[in-house]
Amino acid sequence: MKISDEIVQQVKEQNDIIDVLEEYLTFKKNGDNYLALCPFHSEKTPSFVASRKKQIFKCFGCGESGNVISFIMKYKNLKFIESIEFLAKRIGIDIVSNKINYNLDKYYQILTDSAKYFYVNLKQNSNAKKYLIDRGLSSTIMSRFGLGYSTNSFQGLSKYLINKGYEIKDLLELGLVNNKNGRYYDRFINRIMFPIFNYSGKIIGFGGRVIGEGLPKYLNSKDSNIFKKGSNIYGLNFLLKSFRTLESIIVVEGYMDCIALHNYGITNVVASLGTAFTFEQAKLLSKYTNKIYLCFDGDDAGKTAIIRTFDVFKSFINSNTLDVYVIEFSNAKDPDEFLNKYGKSKFIETINDSKTLIEYIFEFYRQKFDISTNSGKKGYLNIVKNILNQLDLVDKQYYINFIAVTLNIKEELVVSYVNNNFKISGLNKELVFEEKFIEKANIKAEKTLLNLMLNKEYLNYILNNNVDESLFSLDESKEIFRLIVDFNGEEDQILTYLEKRLNTYEAIKLITYFKENISIYDNNNITDQIDDFIKVLRKNIVSNFKEKITHIIKKYESNADENKVIEYLSIFTMISQLEIEDNLSEALDFIKSFEV
Ligand code: UTP
Ligand code: MN
Repeated sequence: MKISDEIVQQVKEQNDIIDVLEEYLTFKKNGDNYLALCPFHSEKTPSFVASRKKQIFKCFGCGESGNVISFIMKYKNLKFIESIEFLAKRIGIDIVSNKINYNLDKYYQILTDSAKYFYVNLKQNSNAKKYLIDRGLSSTIMSRFGLGYSTNSFQGLSKYLINKGYEIKDLLELGLVNNKNGRYYDRFINRIMFPIFNYSGKIIGFGGRVIGEGLPKYLNSKDSNIFKKGSNIYGLNFLLKSFRTLESIIVVEGYMDCIALHNYGITNVVASLGTAFTFEQAKLLSKYTNKIYLCFDGDDAGKTAIIRTFDVFKSFINSNTLDVYVIEFSNAKDPDEFLNKYGKSKFIETINDSKTLIEYIFEFYRQKFDISTNSGKKGYLNIVKNILNQLDLVDKQYYINFIAVTLNIKEELVVSYVNNNFKISGLNKELVFEEKFIEKANIKAEKTLLNLMLNKEYLNYILNNNVDESLFSLDESKEIFRLIVDFNGEEDQILTYLEKRLNTYEAIKLITYFKENISIYDNNNITDQIDDFIKVLRKNIVSNFKEKITHIIKKYESNADENKVIEYLSIFTMISQLEIEDNLSEALDFIKSFEV
């Protein structure tokens, strides 16, 4: 699909760069320019500049630059076409002549009708109703959240909607039905249905929970034009109805946690729905409050998820836009269970006992060391200094004192550490340590792809997508990739086969990961997920390559070798262009040919 130059032009002209960026950044005006903290790298003093006159932006810190379209691409991680669509929608243009004409109202109507259908089903199904009652929900709360039930039939919803005159293609597009060999089946069968609302209260998708045990526990709508996981927050619509700005907002992980808190009369709650908390979500919340409480599950996954929010929240914390606290509880796996076990007043106590996000992170790492010993103190200091160095000066001073007290050492000593006055020789231990907790997206993609390749069907799909070992970055991944491709025995023997042939520590760790992670992959859009993983790996190679070229350019610059600088700059520009056009396979071909 191609969008005409005229439309691109029109979208650019009518989306003034300052007006658009202002929805995401806080600008200070400086003459003709607008200054802000760069959203693409972490910084404490603004080096991001945008100009209304020139309709461009540039960050003097990280070098990122472009126009309103490339800003949206980068900021929202969209393709070129998607960002045009996004900006077109923003100014109310339908991209009709270019085929794309999402009739959003129709989609909203279908989703609302589906929700009504599920809602009525719930009233009529005593088993489903009993499940929710047993979980402590009042019928008022069930109605408020529009909870429903998808019957135990293959075409309950689709027949109902088709009878109402809707077309199957729209139901497919919304992920309400699946097409299997030319027949259509409901996606949600025998599940408790949670409508997912956007901030203005429109239904944009569903989560469906099995009644009792079963996998996957929750099946969610797939991403579509309407439903985009990382940009929405469950429950926000209810807050906006009753208040404008809120004293605080509590963020929980699950549907049930959010609803349970409401059930107990604590209503300033939203849920992130188990995905990594995104910058967009933080931005959205920061419009309505200055204070956030994170109240995630008490397991390791929940703790790691909290640690990871630091990257998202730090610029909000540094600019005083948000204070972020963490609510901790014990003897319950999640806030829902805690409330049902210990009641509302105990929960309020945990809110009052909450720590700041930064204290929480410091405490999390402190527990990994025996700080009564010198080596424990040193190990701990090496971890926390990375965090301290990302804080605003006032916060930094405060937490330096905090750390000095924790370790019972002089403040000056902490300062020296933070300022890197000590060179640590040998391996960079703290980084290795850090990575255990904060896994990079490409490593995650790499592991998950290999895991999926243990299934023959997925393996074929992956190999048909031009994947070879050069896409993987870890040696052990490359090795496992080769072994899987060479394997020609029965599918259920593959793990045993791999175990026999692998003997490095890292490779064995990966195999253990596969075993532990008999992951619940959502079969319905598995190919979409695979496509995404492959894309992450390709992007990673492209960005490593760009980094390498940047180094080379810097080297030639310092030697004042102008010809070489120009030569490598043009390589850089070309790769960046391919990347912008989302033409990653061509970019990879180029990189391969360059590297031989
Ligand atoms: P939880 O497992 O903590 O969910 O996952 P929960 O809401 O507490 O569920 P109950 O109490 O067992 O009913 C947190 C969130 O992660 C997403 C859902 O949004 C869930 O609310 N999730 C979890 C899925 O999307 N799919 C799953 O299979 C599991
Ligand atoms: Mn739960």
